[in-house]
Amino acid sequence: MQGKEVSESAVDNHTYKIFPNDLNAYGTAFGGMIMSIIDRIALVVAERHSGQTCVTASVDSIHFLNPAKRGDILLFSAGINRAWRTSMEIGIKVVAENYRTKKKRHILSAYFTFVAMDEEQKPIEVPSVLATTPEEERRYLEAEYRRSQRKKMARELKRRREVSDSSDK
Ligand SMILES: CC(C)(COP(=O)(O)OP(=O)(O)OC[C@H]1O[C@@H](n2cnc3c(N)ncnc32)[C@H](O)[C@@H]1OP(=O)(O)O)[C@@H](O)C(=O)NCCC(=O)NCCS
Repeated sequence: MQGKEVSESAVDNHTYKIFPNDLNAYGTAFGGMIMSIIDRIALVVAERHSGQTCVTASVDSIHFLNPAKRGDILLFSAGINRAWRTSMEIGIKVVAENYRTKKKRHILSAYFTFVAMDEEQKPIEVPSVLATTPEEERRYLEAEYRRSQRKKMARELKRRREVSDSSDK
């Protein structure tokens, strides 16, 4: 299967205006609202890249770095970092822009893993990613590191559970 460039599926500066009904009790943008939007945008990138229906398999490290405020404009940018056999990592960054001052603040970054599904709802192969810039190459390498750490942690948690289950008996 032929590889595809990052720019073929990327989403650049999708905008969302924060209204009062988007706020939490503290008066800043509700994190769950932002998480719902980033899941959809990352899904669009995965489906554009693979040409298949995709499901969210996992989300690594959502970091809320700064609060977004009432009236801010949120700017969402997302791109594919790497693809493996049937799964893909999509990175997403959210920036809040103050429309009066034009000042921008980094609100969050996150990494989603999506799996492409065939018509029988089984994982299906996806095209590889052709990283063409130094930034894309860095993201490509870091995605493999995150995947190996995730697998290492899953193995370690499984081992710990087995130890604790056997000591309960
Ligand atoms: C994601 C899912 C399809 C994986 O199914 P599975 O039986 O584990 O499939 P496989 O073992 O064949 O793995 C398929 C791929 O998923 C990846 N994967 C599975 N679980 C994962 C996880 N928790 N995090 C990241 N990747 C995962 C595997 O690494 C593999 O990737 P690769 O082919 O690129 O190496 C399955 O767990 C699922 O349907 N989950 C629910 C998804 C969902 O409902 N999401 C929310 C709504 S969209």
